Amino acid sequence: MANEQYNFQELIAHCKEYGYIFQSSEIYDGLAAVYDYGQNGAQLKKNIRDYWWKSMTQLHDNIVGIDAAIFMHPTTWKASGHVDNFSDPMIDNKDSKKRYRVDHLIEGHADILKAQGPEGEKSAAVLIAEMEGLDAKGDFAGLRELIDRYKIVCPISKTGNWTDVRQFNLMFKTEFGAVSSDNPDDNIVYLRPETAQGIFVNFLNVQKTGRMKIPFGIAQTGKAFRNEIVARQFIFRMREFEQMEMQYFIRPGSQMEWYNYWKETRKQWHESLGIPADKLRFHNHIKLAHYADAALDIEFEFPFGWKELEGIHSRTDFDLGNHEKFSKKKIQYFDNDINPETGKPYGNYVPYVVETSVGLDRLVLTILSLSYAEEKWTKEDGSEDSRVVLRIPAKIAPTKLAVLPLTKKDGLPEIAEELVKECRAHFHCFYEEKDTIGKRYRRMDAIGTPFCVTIDHQTKDDGTVTIRHRDTMTQERVALKDVKDIILKAIA
Ligand code: GAP
Repeated sequence: MANEQYNFQELIAHCKEYGYIFQSSEIYDGLAAVYDYGQNGAQLKKNIRDYWWKSMTQLHDNIVGIDAAIFMHPTTWKASGHVDNFSDPMIDNKDSKKRYRVDHLIEGHADILKAQGPEGEKSAAVLIAEMEGLDAKGDFAGLRELIDRYKIVCPISKTGNWTDVRQFNLMFKTEFGAVSSDNPDDNIVYLRPETAQGIFVNFLNVQKTGRMKIPFGIAQTGKAFRNEIVARQFIFRMREFEQMEMQYFIRPGSQMEWYNYWKETRKQWHESLGIPADKLRFHNHIKLAHYADAALDIEFEFPFGWKELEGIHSRTDFDLGNHEKFSKKKIQYFDNDINPETGKPYGNYVPYVVETSVGLDRLVLTILSLSYAEEKWTKEDGSEDSRVVLRIPAKIAPTKLAVLPLTKKDGLPEIAEELVKECRAHFHCFYEEKDTIGKRYRRMDAIGTPFCVTIDHQTKDDGTVTIRHRDTMTQERVALKDVKDIILKAIA
């Protein structure tokens, strides 16, 4: 895949123009940080989701998939710690009335410093290190002092007239059912901020009905909701997004072994999707989430910098242990394998968990930002030519094959329709007979269709067609009867 320099706004405009991603409720001027996927975006997203689902469930004997509800009993979020801890330090600017996540505000200032050259880069590194240290200690007064000391101003009002730093819970609340109660809190439910809890509360259901033996995993994809304060960078940080999570249940004490295993396995999975290894890196967490004893991000180099794509977390027995406590139901596993140290079975315990958690929307953005390229070249006759192309890996491209009759007559459309009929049960095809062949190729490039087949008059004579490859723009003559298998091989 190409990753030439381009303006990120061009990619956003391209996503809209070619049916990938639209602002939600656009006719009403949109809803901040909420996006809709169009006909091509929805298919790309589904293909990535299916690729993940297959690699987790079908290709692992000991991982099964579930689909838990978005609504969960409100005590779930007490037990998980989200009611008390799922908050970020925020600060308000008194002049613009804008609220900022403190880490985002400080990181924004660090970016400004970095742009000032080597000295600026040094002070940006010092600033970030100081912020991480204060954040890890929960030292809000220290964070406020840091903002003052670096004279960080609001990007809108340009003033440093700040409130104190405060915590702000990110969960969305809503009311459940129509029953009125004296205590309004009785009817409150939350939109889940992570899919993981649907897995934890079903641990015993799945373990018993699936007769699963530790180590085993439960995978799930689904929507999650967070009231992000500063939602920026297109679909990178949204208020409604989709996660693909897998909880791997293990013996206590084996967590670092599995943490390292999943860290490497997940990075390799991203590479198998076509993401170059040098665009991925690990970032160890200094400040651990309330449930973790070790955590890291797999970061990707987005057009706006290195950012988290996936989280790998060693969650200990925090979640299952707390659900046991809050539900007063025993959530344990009996391990009858022999412990070599004691010569006896390991017995009953609350399993430990290593989690892999990737944002599906972030993965869509990763693929789109790697795939998008604006290309210009000089033709043999000396004239200039150009195109915009999405070099999406063939196996996840929304449409695999465009079938294009050269003309609308002479029986060519009929041959093309037959080919579509033969192929469409196996992969997504697109049929088009309008416009010149050159314009049709350009449209398919812009949508990211890896193969175009042109049916011309020669097809009628010798049963061959032209197959055009999106990335190289090369064309070759192949037998019409071989087209389906050529594409199937390329997308396997
Ligand atoms: N269950 C663990 C968990 O939710 P997280 O690091 O908060 O961990 C996991 O989120 C992944 O979900 C992130 O790596 C990111 O890809 C995605 N994600 C989190 N917040 C998001 C948001 N507001 N918009 C889009 N994706 C988000």
